[in-house]
Amino acid sequence: MDLTLSLAPMEGITGYVFRNAHHKFFGGSSQVRYYTPFVVCTYTKRIKTREKQDVLPEHNEGIPLVPQLLSNKAEEFLYTARSMAEFGYREVNLNLGCPVATVTAKKKGSGFLTVPDELDRFLCAIYEGAEKIPVTREDGSTGSLAISIKTRLGFSDVAEAPKLFAIYEQYPVKDLIIHARTRAEQYAGQPELGVFFEILSSSRLPITYNGNVFTKEDADGILARSQGKLSGIMIGRGLVEDPALCREIRGGPPATKEELASFHRALYEGYLAQYAGFHGQSSGDLVVINRMKEVWSHLGLLFADNGHYLKAIHKAATRPAYEAAVRCLFDNCALVPRTPGILEAK
Ligand SMILES: Cc1cc2nc3c(=O)[nH]c(=O)nc-3n(C[C@H](O)[C@H](O)[C@H](O)COP(=O)(O)O)c2cc1C
Repeated sequence: MDLTLSLAPMEGITGYVFRNAHHKFFGGSSQVRYYTPFVVCTYTKRIKTREKQDVLPEHNEGIPLVPQLLSNKAEEFLYTARSMAEFGYREVNLNLGCPVATVTAKKKGSGFLTVPDELDRFLCAIYEGAEKIPVTREDGSTGSLAISIKTRLGFSDVAEAPKLFAIYEQYPVKDLIIHARTRAEQYAGQPELGVFFEILSSSRLPITYNGNVFTKEDADGILARSQGKLSGIMIGRGLVEDPALCREIRGGPPATKEELASFHRALYEGYLAQYAGFHGQSSGDLVVINRMKEVWSHLGLLFADNGHYLKAIHKAATRPAYEAAVRCLFDNCALVPRTPGILEAK
């Protein structure tokens, strides 16, 4: 299957520890591509320490990774993009989907969609600027930095889509990743499949679908309607809930408990290493436990009759309490198939 499957960026979850664990147990063999949660491009041109740690090549060895950038100023974007190229990345991704009010109020993320003429000028500048950012391709030849885009269908209404997508069509977008919702729709409800497939049928760009893919059936349904035109499917929550989902989409078996336990161990130990000595041991432990709870709010859905056990995980405040609660869940809960996220085409 010549289809790219990718893990969506999810701030607070899909940082380098998660990506490494996922790639090791599920992603490497299923050729999953990864995106970082957004890196903010600032006017001081300094990348925050946490965001820098996340993109450092030594934290992402052997992982196919695209750094995602958040900006509405071409100069800031290009400065950070150049830093990414110097780290060895050949592509960066522009975030035009973030729905958070503090971000959109600054006309960034999906907020940038409300000023399409400004967005057009920004894209013109960054695509022109990126031509002057050299990268070394896999085969050793020299090229320039590619830019992909992750967008929603509009800010308030899908009626905004024709103008926005006509703008994207003018640029050499490496991959146009479409979360098939507006900002107003946040993450809830059914994706706007009708609008998505209209765009897909008329676009000349490589297009990746994103939104509510929770099962192999969801992915198969999207693929069946795309008539071979789709270049990829990006999955966020579905891949945290069921880390083996890409393997299943490629025709492989679902996750076993043993695999999930190994994945969990790698994740937990990865976070313990990341936060070792963070403001003293016990507060470091709490950061790790909170990170794990965030993962469990998704991963827990894969376990039947999980209520009592997840409650214990969410109550845990120390490492021994957390570890005991996780052991109980693995010992007592069977795995259940996830329910599809895409119910019908609009
Ligand atoms: C907790 C959380 C954090 C997210 N962080 C980002 C982010 O940093 N960048 C981004 O482009 N999208 C972000 N997203 C959106 C996801 O990448 C994805 O577009 C969305 O969840 C829909 O896909 P899904 O239905 O497969 O989850 C985030 C979503 C969630 C739930």
